[in-house]
Amino acid sequence: MTADPPVRLALAEDADDIAAMSRELIERGLPWTWRASRVLRAIQAADTNVAVARVDSELIGFGIMEYLEADAYLALFAVRTARQRQGIGSLLLGWLEESARAAGAERIRVEARRDNVAARSFYNELGYHEVAIRRGRYSDGVDGVVLEKWLRIRPAPDAGSP
Ligand SMILES: CC(C)(COP(=O)(O)OP(=O)(O)OC[C@H]1O[C@@H](n2cnc3c(N)ncnc32)[C@H](O)[C@@H]1OP(=O)(O)O)[C@@H](O)C(=O)NCCC(=O)NCCS
Repeated sequence: MTADPPVRLALAEDADDIAAMSRELIERGLPWTWRASRVLRAIQAADTNVAVARVDSELIGFGIMEYLEADAYLALFAVRTARQRQGIGSLLLGWLEESARAAGAERIRVEARRDNVAARSFYNELGYHEVAIRRGRYSDGVDGVVLEKWLRIRPAPDAGSP
């Protein structure tokens, strides 16, 4: 059995690898918006958590989560192709969810391309529900699917007095 790779907050020196992985796995064929300078700003931002998993100095996965009042938004998330389907995505997302809970977030939102079957299956498997379609959301015309997961049980709506 192999031990889980450690997950930790990203450091400035992780920015280049994260940007390269974003270009390769998320923004392939699209304008490259998450360049190293933007990733570095996210690493340094007080309202953003950037988590990384590294094995033998190789970046194998990362996630960028932004906090917006009671909501957290998973802006970018990927696991290196050769390391997929080994539970690393689940580990990383679990780590980010714990951090979001600790920060007081009530809900996590994420958006995936409608044609990204792997990501939609992954988020569904981890308890995210598809709540909206955003037509033509991506620059190549593909729709976006908005998913969300509640971290706290919502109080039942007031049923009113008898
Ligand atoms: C989506 C992604 C992060 C999943 O990471 P991962 O490390 O492979 O995920 P896990 O191994 O933790 O998978 C957990 C479960 O999710 C589901 N899942 C993951 N990848 C899947 C796939 N390609 N097809 C169907 N289901 C999948 C499975 O139920 C899986 O459990 P199983 O392997 O026991 O069947 C990874 O495929 C990825 O980086 N894709 C490219 C970048 C991307 O699309 N990012 C998301 C942008 S919104």
